[in-house]
Amino acid sequence: TGPDTLGPTGQPTGAPRAAMAQGGAYLTTAQGARLPDGDHSLKAGARGPVLLQDHHLREKITHFDHERIPERVVHARGAAAHGVFQGYGTAAKVSRAAFLAKGVETPVFVRFSTVLGSRGSADTVRDTRGFATKFYTGEGTFDLVGNNIPVFFIQDAIKFPDVIHAGKPHPDREIPQAQSAHDTFWDFVSLHTEATHHTLWNMSDRALPRSLRMMEGFGVHTFRLVNAEGATTLVKFHWKPKLGVHSLVWEEAQLTNGTDPDFHRRDLADAIESGAFPQWELGIQTFPDTPEQTFEGIDLLDPTKIVPEEVAPVVPIGLMTLNANPTNYFAETEQVAFHPGHLVPGIDVTDDPLLAGRLFSYLDTQISRLGGPNFGQIPINRPHAPVNDMLRDGAHQTAVHTGVAPYRPNSLDGGCPFLAGADDGAFIEVPVELPAARKVREAPASFADHFGQPRLFWLSMTPVEREHIIAAYTFELAKCYEQAVKERTLAVLANIDPRLCAEVAAGLGLPAPAATVPLADPGPSPALSQVGREWPLD
Ligand code: HEM
Repeated sequence: TGPDTLGPTGQPTGAPRAAMAQGGAYLTTAQGARLPDGDHSLKAGARGPVLLQDHHLREKITHFDHERIPERVVHARGAAAHGVFQGYGTAAKVSRAAFLAKGVETPVFVRFSTVLGSRGSADTVRDTRGFATKFYTGEGTFDLVGNNIPVFFIQDAIKFPDVIHAGKPHPDREIPQAQSAHDTFWDFVSLHTEATHHTLWNMSDRALPRSLRMMEGFGVHTFRLVNAEGATTLVKFHWKPKLGVHSLVWEEAQLTNGTDPDFHRRDLADAIESGAFPQWELGIQTFPDTPEQTFEGIDLLDPTKIVPEEVAPVVPIGLMTLNANPTNYFAETEQVAFHPGHLVPGIDVTDDPLLAGRLFSYLDTQISRLGGPNFGQIPINRPHAPVNDMLRDGAHQTAVHTGVAPYRPNSLDGGCPFLAGADDGAFIEVPVELPAARKVREAPASFADHFGQPRLFWLSMTPVEREHIIAAYTFELAKCYEQAVKERTLAVLANIDPRLCAEVAAGLGLPAPAATVPLADPGPSPALSQVGREWPLD
């Protein structure tokens, strides 16, 4: 879990608490005073009243009263593991990031999660899965905070609170706990049709992973890599599981929710404990960094769009092996703090408006979730690179800073003059040219196509996968109370595919509406090799 010292910013004194277990020879107070008994309160006689002066009683109960911290506002339920990432060196042409170089080994911590359920919800629900990886590189921490679905519900972070309000349980009855089978979810996604693509993936088998070890991961946004010469390349990140991608069928998922709600976390921990270490290859799709930031007509700044792998193949750049379970769930899995802004030299962001909001949101929420601004000092969050920030004080400060001049440059502590060449190895934002612009609250025209890629996805499904998607829409929508929500969703489905719409409408006992936009021509993409495949329902 990283070094126990805090590097140049100060050292905690005394025995590291991390080393403490429950097995010591005797019990103490939090102050280290030895106690003879932890089972009886101090009383005025064996049958008399408990005395206020019983500090041990009060300390124990007070600490217990404050044991809980808020769960994550999203992705509350998770399971995690430690591991190692080894670069293949194949990214050297496009990124100067040292951890991607051939043979370099970097410790990682990965947290998998569901999005909507609370911390105690079940594992095998129909939902997107988070796939967040912390690379403790020698150049600072890099976090790849992705999902197992390559697109997102919305295109602009200003809608994130809205989509989550719609997906979380209804505010009146607080149901359902962890599914999308309810009115507000379908109300939102049918009114905000950019959500169509992500929703279709959610209705597919991808939203019911067989195991966390058998899921792909996606960075979703387009990122910008920078090589040693300063040349830039746009990329999308992919994790490919060595075990392949496998899903549960709906009946298995439902049964498992009842018989073992911890199915996924148990499977991950058991596999690692038995030495069956799960592995993923990290890969990138690369695109020229043109001013338009499009590839084959696809807007790379639109997080509701993929670039088909047949059009831009995924090039493997490294291998991740998860080889150790956390020692303590709270200390590690619960307190880990990921942030898409944790970047290292050679990896930078783009102007995807969804990513921009994320760059604000994670640090902000973690300040309240982890009780102040110093959660970077929690062992699981400590970088494995020397830290010399000028951040000081604040709640839960554990570093003992020395010196008198926490600013740069200073002449009193002899610290950090801005020297020519001192930026070697520093993270420098790519000096991207920005077009002359005026302030607007609008989206680019290219963000307006909400049905083309959902149709591409639908057409690429095998017959049995289509059956599953139809069954999922039918089941979920049947749980809605509002007729208008069902009808509006059917209108969305008509714009993906008439047959999909007709089958779901039949299942709901409603008429199937006609498409309101011309059905997208899927084009000549080889991704559509499945188009026209015989479908038993035809
Ligand atoms: C948490 C992924 C969009 C806000 C997470 C986590 C993942 C994730 C994997 C769990 C991290 C963990 O395991 O601790 C994504 C992806 C997104 C996305 C892939 C879109 C492509 C957004 C947006 C916002 C947001 C647009 C806000 C504007 C949050 C917050 C948390 C979170 C507040 C909780 C963090 C914490 O408490 O530590 N997200 N997210 N996310 N996400 Fe996102």
